[in-house]
Amino acid sequence: MVQVIFLGPPGSGKGTQSARLSEFLAVPHISTGDILRTHVAQQTDLGQKAKAFMDQGDLVPDQLILSMVQDRLDQPDAQKGWILDGFPRNVTQATFVEDLVKQQQVEKGSENADSKSLNTINLEVPDEVLIERLLARGRADDSEETIRHRLQVYHEQTEPLIEYYRDRNQLSIVNGNLPLDQVTAALKNAIVA
Ligand code: AP5
Repeated sequence: MVQVIFLGPPGSGKGTQSARLSEFLAVPHISTGDILRTHVAQQTDLGQKAKAFMDQGDLVPDQLILSMVQDRLDQPDAQKGWILDGFPRNVTQATFVEDLVKQQQVEKGSENADSKSLNTINLEVPDEVLIERLLARGRADDSEETIRHRLQVYHEQTEPLIEYYRDRNQLSIVNGNLPLDQVTAALKNAIVA
């Protein structure tokens, strides 16, 4: 069982590296951003509620996100592990994952495993590099104004999770400001399967 959480600001390479590691670790890559963009494209009720928050670069409210993540993690392919990309993004979401992991351990009879299979990785990249990368990518929410707001939201709401996971001895820091293959190699070294 391997469970990986990617912290890291917008543009740090969470999505790119999750796709590579998903193949290597043979567990699903679960991106809350990708799931939300599918809902927006399909104009579901959730997509219609989430769109304005995403366009602004604000977090979509927890009451919409938590049930969406619970549904995805209940799928059969997520029972042997997962890579979470873009979730959790605040302390409420982190507490939700912590409870879920504990519950899974109880169900699997491994409550003494003490969350050892949980790897939380912070990809570090300076803000000016992130802005350059995202402007070059050009997704719908990659205008300079929205990128700067997403970075502000990251620093205010998501960055505190670095201490949260450091306190629980579950944090690895990886330099994301290197060529792609070097970042992938460092991640493979950091992850305890
Ligand atoms: P989300 O889709 O998660 O966007 P994000 O966190 O802003 O992250 P990005 O996808 O922009 O960056 P990334 O780190 O994945 O980098 P990537 O690999 O793409 O969320 C979008 C929105 O959805 C949020 O603003 C929010 O509204 C909502 N949302 C999502 N999750 C939520 C949650 N849990 N709660 C509430 N709301 C939520 O790489 C970026 C670019 O850099 C690419 O072009 C890539 O090719 C390039 N690149 C990557 N690595 C390197 C490298 N090493 N060297 C050079 N270029 C690189």
